[in-house]
Amino acid sequence: MTDSLTVRDNRTGLEYDVPILDGTIKAGDLGKIRTDDDEPGLAVYDPGFTNTASCRSSVTYIDGEKGILEYRGYPIEQLAEGSTFLEVAYLLIHGALPTKAEYEAWVHEITYHTFVHENVKSFMQGFRYDAHPMGILMASVGALSTFYPDAGRISDADNRHIQVVRMIAKMPTLGAWAFRHAQGKPYVYPDNDLSYTANFLSMLFKMSESKFEADPRLVKALDILFILHADHEQNCSTNAVRSVGSSQVDPYSAVAAGVGALYGPLHGGANEAVLKMLRRIGSKENIPAFIEGVKNGNEKLMGFGHRVYKNFDPRATIIKKACDDVFEVTGVNPLLAIAKELEKIALEDEYFIKRKLYPNVDFYSGLIYEAFQFPPEMFTVLFAIGRTPGWLAQWVELVQDKEQKIARPKQIYTGDRRLDFVPASERWA
Ligand code: CMC
Repeated sequence: MTDSLTVRDNRTGLEYDVPILDGTIKAGDLGKIRTDDDEPGLAVYDPGFTNTASCRSSVTYIDGEKGILEYRGYPIEQLAEGSTFLEVAYLLIHGALPTKAEYEAWVHEITYHTFVHENVKSFMQGFRYDAHPMGILMASVGALSTFYPDAGRISDADNRHIQVVRMIAKMPTLGAWAFRHAQGKPYVYPDNDLSYTANFLSMLFKMSESKFEADPRLVKALDILFILHADHEQNCSTNAVRSVGSSQVDPYSAVAAGVGALYGPLHGGANEAVLKMLRRIGSKENIPAFIEGVKNGNEKLMGFGHRVYKNFDPRATIIKKACDDVFEVTGVNPLLAIAKELEKIALEDEYFIKRKLYPNVDFYSGLIYEAFQFPPEMFTVLFAIGRTPGWLAQWVELVQDKEQKIARPKQIYTGDRRLDFVPASERWA
């Protein structure tokens, strides 16, 4: 057996040997297949990159059929059970778990970069009272590039490190302030005595008390949610970060693109859409009619289906369990009963079985976030904070990858050609 593909071009009768490496062929090798020298070579048409590898990566492994998710080789279930979000962030960025000294230094560094320049505050205050927090987050992450102009020196490893630290550290500050802005409440400065996640909750909810310390069970649950969202190989927002980063722009601009991609309802915005959907369904009796509407193509069952997971989403299983811990503190969200019934009915329905549609990470996460008293607009901000180490780990990998080039997909041109331009003065005469 040889690791190659023999392709016969029936247009010319010619045969080509295309090497297979790591289960892939190089698209460039197909480019050598052409009918004559003046014609462009064969290309691959793959909208949405459904079957195209865009990079080599050692950050995250997913087996969608078996429901496996691993960060740097460690199963998500074990990390969610025994690690912390900052340790997972270290793992993603550095590729290995930290020693005690490395962990302490990392936590210290992140903790002491949580503050942002006061002008960032003024900038955020300029948004309208009803601005969506994801819009504020996207703009303020992008704006950070103007505060750290040295961030453009992306080939300097020390420089990359400090920008990575800054971004992981400041994301909760920006996210919390976007929330306070929408509420018309004063922005709360970071409390460096608290853990990463406890400090985030303090910046969100502190009022006149001198110290805000959230229930440790809630801190733990949110930390787990951040871990579950920390990376997910080449998803839409990570691809956006890599695509924009491939122009060698600074990481703040690249991550701002990731935040923009995450904002969409088919990606991070799905958890917000799930809540709206559950509220609209309103009661268990309305579920069958809703399911019929989905099957008739009127709408999607939000929080179901995944490009990669075709059996179950391991993150959804962990979140479902975390729901119980959170509801023990906050009381049960009445929408949980509708969600569970909806899941049960959908999983028994031929339409969903045939298409391998299962609950994804967003199906239950919104219910937990709501129990924390987050309005739906904030859900995707929480996703963005969790995903930041993943975006940055992928960005660090990208900028050191000698095989990477500026992203520039091909197109199949379908428009007109060689039209003669008639000036407006003649066309409109
Ligand atoms: N409800 C009803 N039908 C669906 C759904 C759904 N949620 N998802 C997919 N389908 C159908 C789809 O209509 C298609 O049917 P047919 O073959 O008859 O045309 C079939 O299943 C295959 O779907 P697809 O759209 O080709 O699959 P995709 O891989 O392009 O899309 C997806 C994946 C996640 C965008 C999609 O499943 C979806 O829109 N789900 C709802 C939104 C959602 O929950 N997104 C969160 C994803 S997980 C978090 C994240 O990573 O961001």
